[in-house]
Amino acid sequence: LEIRSGAVGVGKGMPMGFIIIAPGINTEAWCRHLLAADPGLDLRVWPDSGDPATVSFALVWQAPPGELQRYPHLRCIASLGAGADHILSDPQLPAGVPVTRVVHDSLSRGMSEYVLATVLSQCRHLWRFQQDQRRARWRRRLPMETAKTCIGIMGLGQLGADAARRLGQHGFPVVGWSRTPKKIEGVAAYAGDNQLRPFLARSQVLVCMLPLTPATRDILNAAAFAALPRGAYLINVARGEHLVEDDLFEALTDDQLSGACLDVFREEPLPESHPFWHHPRITVTPHVASITHPGLVAPQIVANYRRVQNGKPPRNQVDRQRGY
Ligand SMILES: NC(=O)c1ccc[n+]([C@@H]2O[C@H](COP(=O)([O-])OP(=O)(O)OC[C@H]3O[C@@H](n4cnc5c(N)ncnc54)[C@H](OP(=O)(O)O)[C@@H]3O)[C@@H](O)[C@H]2O)c1
Repeated sequence: LEIRSGAVGVGKGMPMGFIIIAPGINTEAWCRHLLAADPGLDLRVWPDSGDPATVSFALVWQAPPGELQRYPHLRCIASLGAGADHILSDPQLPAGVPVTRVVHDSLSRGMSEYVLATVLSQCRHLWRFQQDQRRARWRRRLPMETAKTCIGIMGLGQLGADAARRLGQHGFPVVGWSRTPKKIEGVAAYAGDNQLRPFLARSQVLVCMLPLTPATRDILNAAAFAALPRGAYLINVARGEHLVEDDLFEALTDDQLSGACLDVFREEPLPESHPFWHHPRITVTPHVASITHPGLVAPQIVANYRRVQNGKPPRNQVDRQRGY
């Protein structure tokens, strides 16, 4: 084995390699910040993996399926973002290796700001005014009343719970839905499949902040839209695979939904020919609702690298069985 020693946890014969596998992502800032956190890091960037047997830690975003299986001594597979669905979906994911994700206040804050901005834009009809302006059309539209506009948050985890709190602080009534019951001040919390419909029935603006799992795939479908109050607005900031696209078009055509703001898509980048781009009541943003800043999260990733090199379990582990 060719083993280059890092600054931490040097043990005889212990693989020390740290690899970034993130095709299509500019990894320059990641490298800079990881090396700032640990100047001795034996860092490689896929596809320049070196000897796979000398790699113990993989930082990953949408690795080619089967790629992770090539590294026989992995001790941790770390998602470069908050979601780990792109790792868990690999049919050849090495068994028994802990999978982690990023948990950081900056991600929750960024997501909550996006959701708050979108909800306010909808309540104040800002997108419609933009359309009116393009046609020089002077048309007054009354704002939706904050205290009478109920926001429904699907998923009350790191991101959803923060958004629910902040929307509540802003004066919106908030309902939330999760797998297990939650207590969040100012939020009417629903849990489990049996309580999905009553939750939806109150959600005038529905925000999807669920992880992508077999149980949540396609959850934004015709039945869910029919259960919403008429004219509800949809915000999907979770994953494109949560949404059944044809059902959205139909719900918009029937005016069951008044509009949608979508940040995530089944295919990213969203193809130029996709009808979402030109639909008058759909707003498209390019998966930017909450962005992982390498400078802020590199220290927690290096800390996890040190933990596994020292035989400790990494923090922020995903439950592989549960799927998130
Ligand atoms: N667009 C973007 O820029 C962007 C950025 C970051 C993340 N995301 C997406 O946001 C997702 C959520 O992130 P997070 O950090 O908040 O995740 P998290 O902390 O794991 O929270 C997930 C929440 O969803 C709930 N949930 C999971 N499965 C469910 C089910 N079958 N039925 C009902 N509720 C269910 C969980 O319920 P329990 O609390 O009962 O477990 C939990 O409240 C990520 O997975 C990712 O896909 C998007």
